[in-house]
Amino acid sequence: MENFMANPRLPEFDQNSPLRPARFGHIVLKTGRFQDMAHWYKTVLHAEPLFEIPVGTFLTFDDEHHRLLIIQDPNVTPREATAEGVAHWAYLYNSLTELMTTYARLRDVGIAPTYCVNHGFQFSLYYHDPDKNEVELGCDNFGSRDELNEWFTNGQFAKNFYGYNFDPEFAYKLHVEGAADRTVFDETYKGEAPDLSAVLGDEA
Ligand SMILES: [Fe+2]
Repeated sequence: MENFMANPRLPEFDQNSPLRPARFGHIVLKTGRFQDMAHWYKTVLHAEPLFEIPVGTFLTFDDEHHRLLIIQDPNVTPREATAEGVAHWAYLYNSLTELMTTYARLRDVGIAPTYCVNHGFQFSLYYHDPDKNEVELGCDNFGSRDELNEWFTNGQFAKNFYGYNFDPEFAYKLHVEGAADRTVFDETYKGEAPDLSAVLGDEA
């Protein structure tokens, strides 16, 4: 594991130089099943349309005019699971409570995560949209930059940057029974060490 940074820390950005983008803007998805996709994202994100036509919708969930544009494209082909390119993108909630509330709301309308990972610093539920794009819903396991830095430098991330898979119902039950957030995070950050050889090759 010599190639790993032993003590990763969050970057300190100088806001003046060099010039960087102010923020991440939006994603555009072209689809052959516009209605299903629009319904899914409106449901999952509680997103609202800024502008909508029968074959396209500009969706947002905050004060950006659009975070997601979904557009019908008659020429698309199904996405192969092995296609290179984007693996997933992530939407983050402010707290475990918000994430668990969303998890239960979606579960109750038949939208369940495909798998869940406690990365140690982030708690992640991975869903698949109707086009099989992977979409992460998550929250940070620590509430401050200092706590995150402390975790990143404690060596666990360098040893296991993936984290541990967990059962979302187990986490949800703990949470609704009144367990502290730290308990939920700790109780789901354990188990079988993941096999990272497919990612790391000879390094693993
Ligand atoms: Fe992610």
